[in-house]
Amino acid sequence: MKPSFYVTTPIYYVNDVPHIGHAYTTVAGDVLARYKRLMGYDVYFLTGSDEHGQKVEKAATTAGETPLELADRVVKRYQALWERLGISNNDFIRTTQERHKKGVAHIFKDILDKGDIYLGEYEDWYCTPCETFWPETQLIEDRCPDCNRPVEKLKEESYFFRMSKYQEQLLAHIEANPEFIQPKSKRNEIISFVKDGLRDLSVSRTTFTWGIPVPGNDKHIIYVWFDALTNYMTALGYPEATDNYRNFWPANVHLIGKDILRFHAVYWPTFLMAAGLPLPEKVFAHGWWTVEGQKMSKSLQNVVEPNMLIDKYGVDVVRYFLLREVPFGLDGDFSHAALVQRLNSDLANDLGNLLSRSTAMAVKYFDGILPAPAELADIDQGLKKKTTDMIDHVDACMDDLAFSKALQAVWEVVSAGNKYIDESAPWTLAKDPNQKDRLATVMYCLLESQRIVHVLLSAFIPATSEKALTSLGCQCKVEKADLDWGGLQAGTTIIKAEALFPRMEG
Ligand code: MSP
Repeated sequence: MKPSFYVTTPIYYVNDVPHIGHAYTTVAGDVLARYKRLMGYDVYFLTGSDEHGQKVEKAATTAGETPLELADRVVKRYQALWERLGISNNDFIRTTQERHKKGVAHIFKDILDKGDIYLGEYEDWYCTPCETFWPETQLIEDRCPDCNRPVEKLKEESYFFRMSKYQEQLLAHIEANPEFIQPKSKRNEIISFVKDGLRDLSVSRTTFTWGIPVPGNDKHIIYVWFDALTNYMTALGYPEATDNYRNFWPANVHLIGKDILRFHAVYWPTFLMAAGLPLPEKVFAHGWWTVEGQKMSKSLQNVVEPNMLIDKYGVDVVRYFLLREVPFGLDGDFSHAALVQRLNSDLANDLGNLLSRSTAMAVKYFDGILPAPAELADIDQGLKKKTTDMIDHVDACMDDLAFSKALQAVWEVVSAGNKYIDESAPWTLAKDPNQKDRLATVMYCLLESQRIVHVLLSAFIPATSEKALTSLGCQCKVEKADLDWGGLQAGTTIIKAEALFPRMEG
């Protein structure tokens, strides 16, 4: 049986339209999902939408719609974008779906019955855009410490989750599992947050109605983060012991942005502990994108729309740029100049040229019929070794979610391929009939190295790799065995590849 792998993205709020921040996590999840499928895993890749809460209710009122009308409209924009970006999610969960509402009510009731949710009264400062209560001591100049917007004093009867009870258990779990929260700097932040003391958490609201009612007391709406986090299980069928639930829970990795780490690394695991359920293996918080050096925001009118980028540069350029430009886990800056630079240099020059040069030579010297290699000389062995070593290197990087490093490792082989052409000079070999075998070997190694490169790249830039593999006469449906050297069969028809990426003016 195949080993299973479950990766999730956050579920996105429907009061906003998708921007590159959303596309970033989703593309990262997709690359990981595609990579794991390639490596023989049974993968479940989940994304979705977060549709409840006061924020969505307010946005709907402003737009003159019901919250569900708003959600139905905005969710289509997410789904259409994911389709354009080639996102291979297995499922898309909406928190307004029955399957989700049922599961949330179930886990809430379960924790209530076990005594770790109780009814009390709440009074504190509330930030509506962040859906978060803040103690006075954490406010910064009377404003929300996260978004710097004004907060309001709210007092309400509320259900509380006994989070304080799980402080030591959570700390012990984090300390015993160094991989649980990543990257390390974020893990340290969470450790000190937990050590500072966990307060019981208000997990219901009575000031609005757009959400899932508390079972048995529908004056109360379940707190939107309690509702949202549970999506990772309800999508699998929780609380039923469905095949998906049994195969895929606990998740291997929750991919999220750094701003929502506390919800995923403190709230979520303690909810699960209270319900007696296993915790996800890893929560990875990536950094934030600024735009041309500035914070991305509606008010600055500098929100980068992924659709606009795709129109201008193409899907795979966007996918590649997002994962190559910034080490996953760090903040980064988006600029058109940086994107065009990556496109021209890495994609058009290095990767694209290599394929068009090599396939053109195969057509010119062998009428496009791939010759069998003779014995490999040192220089050929060198390229072969670089190519085969890359596979383990990439695998280690992918385990660490070091996408940018994985791509660097692939590009070292691309550069080695370009250098190999220059050093082995096929055009000189072609002039000498006695060198026919040598020329055959060079062409074989050159194309075989690129075949393996594109099998790996199929996780990152699937449409481009499909084109490349087609011109190399290979099947496009790739699997782990396709990473073995020697997969390219003598006699295969090679087609001259058109430029994979047209260069653009900066
Ligand atoms: N609905 C919650 C998540 C619930 S998950 C159980 C939410 N939604 S969101 O739509 O506001 O944000 C989703 C993700 O987008 C977050 O991971 C956030 O980090 C990410 N980003 C928002 N702006 C971003 C950047 N400028 N750069 C990178 N990621 C950013 O939070």
